[in-house]
Amino acid sequence: MIKKLAVYIGEFKKETLLSPICIAVEVIMEVILPMLMALVIDKGVNVGDMNYVLKMGFFMLVVAFISLAGGALCGKYAAIASTGFSRNLRKAMFSKIQDFSFANIDKFSTAGLVTRMTADITNVQMAFQMIIRICVRAPFMLIFSLFMCLKLAPQVSWIFLVALVFLGGALGMIITKGFPKFHAMFKQYDKLNGAIQENLAGIRVVKAYVREGHETHKFFEQSGKVKDLSIAAEKLVIMNSPIMQLTMYGCILIISWLGAKNIVAGDMTTGTLMSLFTYTMQVLMSLMMISMVFVMLTISKTSADRILEVLEEESTIQNPENPIMEVKDGSIDFENVSFRYSGGEEKNVLEHVNIHIKSGETVGIIGATGSSKSTFVQLIPRLYDVSAGCVKVGGVDVRDYDMEVLRNEVSMVLQKNVLFSGSILDNLRWGNENATLEEAKHACELAQAAEFIERFPDGYNTKIERGGTNVSGGQKQRLCIARALLKKPKILILDDSTSAVDTSTDAKIRKAFREEIPNTTKLIIAQRISSVEDADHILVLNEGEVNGYGTHEELLKNNEIYRDIYELQKKGAEE
Ligand SMILES: Nc1ncnc2c1ncn2[C@@H]1O[C@H](COP(=O)(O)OP(=O)(O)OP(=O)(O)O)[C@@H](O)[C@H]1O
Ligand SMILES: [Mg+2]
Repeated sequence: MIKKLAVYIGEFKKETLLSPICIAVEVIMEVILPMLMALVIDKGVNVGDMNYVLKMGFFMLVVAFISLAGGALCGKYAAIASTGFSRNLRKAMFSKIQDFSFANIDKFSTAGLVTRMTADITNVQMAFQMIIRICVRAPFMLIFSLFMCLKLAPQVSWIFLVALVFLGGALGMIITKGFPKFHAMFKQYDKLNGAIQENLAGIRVVKAYVREGHETHKFFEQSGKVKDLSIAAEKLVIMNSPIMQLTMYGCILIISWLGAKNIVAGDMTTGTLMSLFTYTMQVLMSLMMISMVFVMLTISKTSADRILEVLEEESTIQNPENPIMEVKDGSIDFENVSFRYSGGEEKNVLEHVNIHIKSGETVGIIGATGSSKSTFVQLIPRLYDVSAGCVKVGGVDVRDYDMEVLRNEVSMVLQKNVLFSGSILDNLRWGNENATLEEAKHACELAQAAEFIERFPDGYNTKIERGGTNVSGGQKQRLCIARALLKKPKILILDDSTSAVDTSTDAKIRKAFREEIPNTTKLIIAQRISSVEDADHILVLNEGEVNGYGTHEELLKNNEIYRDIYELQKKGAEE
């Protein structure tokens, strides 16, 4: 795991190395100080040599200053290295997520990805900083001070041995019990983020249905669970500190008692006892730091695992080895296609679909909600891969195309579409970066968006607020259609994209399609029969199976589902 993460240190190797070097300087100086102190007491104070005291005092000042400088530099380099490391990690994760297929994103959930990109990375960053600062400092200090202690007073070595065993046991318990608790805590964080995200994305709906109370309650419940799990985890961690203190003062007490006896017996000098105290403190402090690092690493191990999970995830949709770079025409063939969502139920949502659509045809798709209309069309630009059978575009399996080429030729207006912050023109240019204003205007005319855009004071430079909140539902849909048209695709798919557009505008859009882009294959998913009745063919889907395929007249004659929908909508219109 460490090896895999270490790659992301990248250009911050220098700082990562300098930090422990600086800390080593600090530690050496800190270890020298008590030695000098012992000399001052034994050879200066006890003998009454003021000159010696002053000389050594100055020397100690210099040593202390070097130690300070080492500590400060180490802090600086550690900060640079750890923030740089986390930046690299975030960057890698973000690029990875951009490569994810819809199926990958379904697997992690948006909220899960957000926690991993924020809280988890922060944890790992803190752990990394600790490692390069403390993981060098503490063992270094421990060995030096322990060596000095044993040299000064070998008779007390058993005390350290007892302390070490006691601390090791306590720490082992904290870590083994704490790890699963932290794991559970992070899982709950994902859920909390999910709840927040869902609420904020749908805050208008929440208000419209006066569900604020319910939502607040739901949030409290989730955040309460985070609190409980954090307490359960932290309860173990806080034991660390009292156990350390107990050991530390216990050792000091025993050493004082033994030391006093030795001094009285004349086996030890006062100076030696003084420096023995300082070294003991240093030994125990470094033990405390080591235990803190272990706890911190326990917490961050969970985070590191979660980060690596994302970084090591292979996109379920990959470009083929020798991709085909050209789509010949806009014909579409579904050959015995079955499909199931990997995260969903163990059931195919598309079953043995066989459909052949000629280039340039207009095909309407009708079916009840949940009849897999969206699923059907998402297979064409390869947003998902089929589970069985194959989908061909221009006579070639979609899996053989270069993905960018395919998606540029198959333009899709998704059912859940979004605009991004920026001007209307910026948004339209998502379809084609190099489109001129004229081309953009033409696409908007086809999509019947031009008339309302021109009524805005800023026209095509009107700013779209985040998510397109300042345009109406129907306006947004027409902008999305214009954006898709700007790609000048061979296949255009509208997934329920005129549901919020009135019938006469809807008809105008279809008329414009017929006259202006006759060679583009058009797939139109709609709820209204009127949106599809003039299509060349209409596909009726029912529970993931093809229920009928034909013209409006043919289906009226021999397809029950189609006839029912038609009668129902006609009756509704007459009433
Ligand atoms: N990302 C997903 N993960 C798992 N199951 C899904 C996913 N998306 C859709 N489904 C399931 O697949 C089935 C078909 O859904 P689909 O969205 O294709 O229906 P639809 O005909 O487009 O419905 P609507 O008219 O409401 O848009 C449904 O049962 C749905 O629960
Ligand atoms: Mg749908």
